[in-house]
Amino acid sequence: MTAHGELAELAEIASTCVRCPLSETRTTVVFGTGSADAEVMFVGEAPGFHEDQQGEPFVGAAGKLLDQLLGEIGLQRDDVYIANVLKCRPPGNRDPKPEEIEECKGYLRRQLELVDPKVVITLGNFATKLLLRRDVGITRLRGQVFPWWNRRLIPTFHPAAALRGGEQVLALMREDFALARAVIDEPAVEVTLVEAGPEQLGLFG
Ligand code: URA
Repeated sequence: MTAHGELAELAEIASTCVRCPLSETRTTVVFGTGSADAEVMFVGEAPGFHEDQQGEPFVGAAGKLLDQLLGEIGLQRDDVYIANVLKCRPPGNRDPKPEEIEECKGYLRRQLELVDPKVVITLGNFATKLLLRRDVGITRLRGQVFPWWNRRLIPTFHPAAALRGGEQVLALMREDFALARAVIDEPAVEVTLVEAGPEQLGLFG
């Protein structure tokens, strides 16, 4: 079966998931969207109110900013794949709980395997910590390219942080997106590869 077909099959399975109590409060499972052949995959935190209503990741205000930043490096939503750590909205947009992440992470792992992107961009602390397994804040991790499971991982802020933090955060996100563009365009581009150590495997380890 093609990656596209397997993703569709997994989305179907996830749509009735009851692995954690978020299944009792969600409206819709937000599995992920985009191209199964994408070179770039974004990983956010969890669906918010609008995503829960519409079943698509990043359709609210943070999503509009994500679209804008994508456009600035010549990409559209259809060119990339977008998923979240959690597929269901935590009530009131609270932080994901470790046990929710544990129950849900198999879906993300399979999405990463199937899409097999060249570059993974983690949006914010939760996705970055899960994939890189480093207890270091996003402010210190961003702006760098990590070798990760035969791919490149670029951590950046969550777009909601740029909406709160204004121009300063937005400027740093623009730098990170430009870095991603450079990595996509030229695999041999001069970037500082940071040794992440054995814990770099994160989700895959
Ligand atoms: N924030 C996220 O992390 N993901 C979404 O899909 C929407 C907002």
